[in-house]
Amino acid sequence: MNAANSPVLEIRNASRVHGQGERAVQALADANLRINAGEFVAIMGPSGSGKSTLLHLAGGLDIPTCGQVLVEGTDLASLSIARRAVIRRQSVGYVFQDFNLLPALTAAENVAFPLELDGWQRKKARQAALASLEETGVAMLADRRPEDMSGGQAQRVAIARALVGPRRLLLADEPTGALDSATGTAILRLLREKADNGAAVLMVTHEARYAAWTDRTLFLRDGRIIDQSGPSDASELLAQGTA
Ligand SMILES: Nc1ncnc2c1ncn2[C@@H]1O[C@H](COP(=O)(O)OP(=O)(O)O)[C@@H](O)[C@H]1O
Ligand SMILES: [Mg+2]
Repeated sequence: MNAANSPVLEIRNASRVHGQGERAVQALADANLRINAGEFVAIMGPSGSGKSTLLHLAGGLDIPTCGQVLVEGTDLASLSIARRAVIRRQSVGYVFQDFNLLPALTAAENVAFPLELDGWQRKKARQAALASLEETGVAMLADRRPEDMSGGQAQRVAIARALVGPRRLLLADEPTGALDSATGTAILRLLREKADNGAAVLMVTHEARYAAWTDRTLFLRDGRIIDQSGPSDASELLAQGTA
């Protein structure tokens, strides 16, 4: 298979409506998106515009009211809940703004955890975890717990966990939100590297200077993708107040 040209994520005419009748909220309307291996895409838009909804659908944490979400060619809605959880663990890495590391576990245990859930032997899972920590530059923290890490260190561990094993889709919801600007830039460099090494990366961000690290930026407003552009156009749109 030619990994470089096959879409890792494909969203086709996807909508998500929460609630019913007069209280119905259209969180996402008729979204279309395709991300190939090696591509890094940013999502920007005001609060409530549907950014997290789009990411949840992409990661199989939620399913669309209509339309399709395919991860590595598999329509997530066609799967049982149990099977979807397996795909999520095997193909999708999710980075949350507040890291979501398990406080009782060391960095290596946190990163190995999803692999062990998948039935990997403890020793093999630890090896893969150490390799992933090495890649994100925090191998020296392997036996440390989250409470003894800085925000930037914890986020690197969270990214190591998101990308451990053979996963190829990385979803990050404001991954730099809690970080200072130097650490934020280091995280962006890391996500860029991940894409350059063959992952498909989709990141929500509020910061135009971070979107500049990506290949494309999607702008969402009221649940609709209103524009897609390269990094240079992104700052123009922001200047016009469109985003
Ligand atoms: N579980 C839910 N139930 C009802 N409304 C929701 C739910 N999740 C999101 N929404 C609504 O959908 C819209 C988009 O939300 P969200 O995707 O979280 O936006 P963003 O991440 O861009 O701030 C908002 O109006 C929000 O209030
Ligand atoms: Mg959000």
